[in-house]
Amino acid sequence: MVEVLVTGGAGFIGSNFVRYALERRQDWRVTTLDKLTYAGRRENLHDVMDHPRHAFVQGDIADAAVSTPLVERSDLVVHFAAETHVDRSIMAAGDFIRTDVEGTFVLLEAARRAAGLRRFIQISTDEVYGSVATGASRETDELKPRNPYAASKAGADRLAYSYWATYNVPVVITRASNNYGPYQFPEKVIPLFATNAIDDIPVPLYGDGQNVRDWLHVDDHCRAIDLLVEQGINGEVYNIGGGNDVMNVDLTKRILSALGKPMSLITPVADRPGHDRRYCLDTSKLHTLGWAPQVPFEKGLHDTVEWYRRNQWWWRPIKEQDPAFRSYYQAQYERRT
Ligand code: NAD
Ligand code: DAU
Repeated sequence: MVEVLVTGGAGFIGSNFVRYALERRQDWRVTTLDKLTYAGRRENLHDVMDHPRHAFVQGDIADAAVSTPLVERSDLVVHFAAETHVDRSIMAAGDFIRTDVEGTFVLLEAARRAAGLRRFIQISTDEVYGSVATGASRETDELKPRNPYAASKAGADRLAYSYWATYNVPVVITRASNNYGPYQFPEKVIPLFATNAIDDIPVPLYGDGQNVRDWLHVDDHCRAIDLLVEQGINGEVYNIGGGNDVMNVDLTKRILSALGKPMSLITPVADRPGHDRRYCLDTSKLHTLGWAPQVPFEKGLHDTVEWYRRNQWWWRPIKEQDPAFRSYYQAQYERRT
């Protein structure tokens, strides 16, 4: 059996990856290591928690006593764990430095000593390139992160690279664009707007709504990671993008249309400080390995919105019963309106 450690496996992309891996990789035994922050939830893994090839460990990646033995016994590490929300990083960046940078450092130190480790996938992000006015970011482009989240991810991205260059740790780095799909925490734009709209609550669109993001279905992301486990070259970076460049205002209208809700729910609010105008990835390097996105955006978005409509058991407890979410929402949005 291949021993696979998935950090952050109780989060959005991590939980989709754990499910994908257990279904597609019969020879993988998966251990999820997750601190269960506000964004990590056992509910995200409800259907695989007791799977015979899955073990769940609650713990902090930055706690070497917990994470080092898990890395040392692994053949493969897929490192998703991070603080991930840009707006939260603007409010308070400390946890981003502790988890995204220091936590990654602790894992990489363990990886140096892991005799059987054959791959360490560092999940980075397209945000490390910063805003690109025209054209598409290539893996060789300069990194110009512009918010504390992006900067912490850029630190982790380059730290991981340094452990390959210096210690020969078998690191492969991925930089994906905006993911969408089921189990995304309802602070991110698609689940936030869909769940607000279901309840006829206004959707707060930042600034002029003209910012562009490239949307990647989480299943396509999982397929890309799986491919890179086998075919990635150590020390290399791979962009992963869906090729769906959409302005926020258009995305918002599509979400409202899918739910049959009026456009009058769109409420322009004060912009995000330092809001990156546009991300766009050149994904030709990954395409040469045979990957291409399989989920058309129209269908993927429709199915995703439908998932949030049908799975209110999943998000209502967060939005309606979690005092931490309520105080976050107030702090984040009251000052904007
Ligand atoms: P998420 O916020 O939904 O999940 C993050 C998970 O990490 C949670 O389960 C959380 O409990 C866990 N975690 C946080 N701190 C931890 C710690 N110290 N120790 C152990 N676990 C901890 O995030 P996501 O959207 O699923 O993103 C996963 C990864 O993908 C991140 O590294 C993120 O930077 C990257 N990424 C995300 C996107 C996107 O659009 N969501 C795009 C590109 C890259
Ligand atoms: O690009 C990859 C990144 O995508 C990941 O690395 C991050 O972890 C992930 O959170 C995501 O970052 P974004 O900032 O792009 O995602 P978010 O969903 O927060 O915002 C998407 C766009 O929508 C962005 O231009 C800001 C806008 N927005 C967001 C929120 C939450 C709004 O207009 N209103 C909102 O309320």
